[in-house]
Amino acid sequence: MKQAKMILDKDYQISRIDNRIYGSFIEHLGRAVYGGIYEPGHPTADELGFRTDVISAVKKLGVPIVRYPGGNFVSGFHWEDSVGPVEQRPKRLDLAWFTTETNEVGLHEFAKWAEKAGSDLMYAINLGTRGPEQARDVVEYANHKSGSKFSDLRISNGKKDPFGIKVWCLGNEMDGPWQMGQKTAYEYGRTANEAAKMMKWVDPSIELVACGSSSSEMPGFGSWELEMLNECYENIDYVSLHRYYGNPTGDTPGFLARTMDMDDFIRTVTSICDAVKGKKHSKKQINLSFDEWNVWYHSNEQDKEIWKREKWDRALPLLEDIYNFEDALLVGSMLLTLLRNADRVKIACLAQLVNVIAPIMTRNGGGCWAQTTYYPFLHASRYGRGTALKAIVQSPVYDCRDYEGVPTIDTAATMEDDGHVTVFCVNRDMTEDCLLDLDLRSFGGMEMEEHIVLHHDDVKAVNTEDCPDRVAPVTVQPSGTDNGRVQVRLPALSWNVLRFRPAG
Ligand code: AHR
Repeated sequence: MKQAKMILDKDYQISRIDNRIYGSFIEHLGRAVYGGIYEPGHPTADELGFRTDVISAVKKLGVPIVRYPGGNFVSGFHWEDSVGPVEQRPKRLDLAWFTTETNEVGLHEFAKWAEKAGSDLMYAINLGTRGPEQARDVVEYANHKSGSKFSDLRISNGKKDPFGIKVWCLGNEMDGPWQMGQKTAYEYGRTANEAAKMMKWVDPSIELVACGSSSSEMPGFGSWELEMLNECYENIDYVSLHRYYGNPTGDTPGFLARTMDMDDFIRTVTSICDAVKGKKHSKKQINLSFDEWNVWYHSNEQDKEIWKREKWDRALPLLEDIYNFEDALLVGSMLLTLLRNADRVKIACLAQLVNVIAPIMTRNGGGCWAQTTYYPFLHASRYGRGTALKAIVQSPVYDCRDYEGVPTIDTAATMEDDGHVTVFCVNRDMTEDCLLDLDLRSFGGMEMEEHIVLHHDDVKAVNTEDCPDRVAPVTVQPSGTDNGRVQVRLPALSWNVLRFRPAG
């Protein structure tokens, strides 16, 4: 059996954890909205048509903020289409996903759903086909009290009090050729800056996320961030990062090592933000919003077939990745990467939440079930709150095609305000268990309360409506603590949650 060591000290802290790192994302895409959260006539639908089985599954995850309404969708979106009497709302061709958008669910409806789900809204504006003026209009509509054209329109549409949306995205992936209204870094930086100024003049309390590169693999990554930040640094608050990974070649060790890239991505964007800060002699620190992250590749071929057959239909079943056990391990590692970078990553959104590359699946007229990836998110969101701790870790390492020295044991540790300490670990080893020697002496008396394990012998095992618990966590016997030292066995290929409580 392999061996690893971890020392935790209550005074070795990375940062307070911003709860918004457990955010998620719902786009007008596929069956995320229509057939996902909203399905009037479904046996569990409430008076507004929202599926209460889905709301319960989301509430269990504890999602403090949900990005909406896109995504690529937002770059052709007219926010005005999504408010006012539903029967008068236009149907539009959505050029992002080759679907017809009916606007049956819009800002007012989604805000009600978010309230039921216990989430705040993170609202994205269109900086693709539209510009700063409609951006300031929608802030006035959503956040201004009354006595102006758009605030009074909101009131006449039935919402007396402002929505009070705090976080706004200045467009989406504006460097991507697939984006409606793609821009150069300079064009985007200028537009984002003017939109940001006007939006904050309407409501100075809002926070703004500027688009970083669509991924670290974009040819312009790095120079895009530098150039666009040069134009808008003082008026924005966060830079966005987006990253999806896949395992099309079936290389599990290489796939599980992809968080090495994610960590690099975060450090690089942080450095660029700080370089621009230095260049501008600014007092302001720009933080990161990792507002799209996940595994995404399973559904690619299927989507091409759907578009061949059903282009322009409503609510096409797009991006319906069925996640397997190894995907859950990588999602776990991605969460650990966010936690280890909690000093700069203040918002993150698992993309997405329901049906579309999602931890929660539904069948139209049928059930709702948890994919494998639901569980690491559930555990991290539930227990990974408070303060991120700087663990000193010695782990065996392995090499794979793209990386050398990948730690076999991937970890993060957190301390809640009530004194609970949680150690999260992924054992990336394909065959060997690992004995983790954990030193918690600095905390005084601590005892192990719980050890949750997610493991399956088959990395390709999935959950389905008929077999929803094939991959599900189990609780194993916690190990005994001896004077603040504990040895825990981490099974080969597993996600582990080790919970400790102050003794006595
Ligand atoms: O989350 C799916 C899509 O991925 C989003 O619409 C887009 O921003 C990204 O490319």
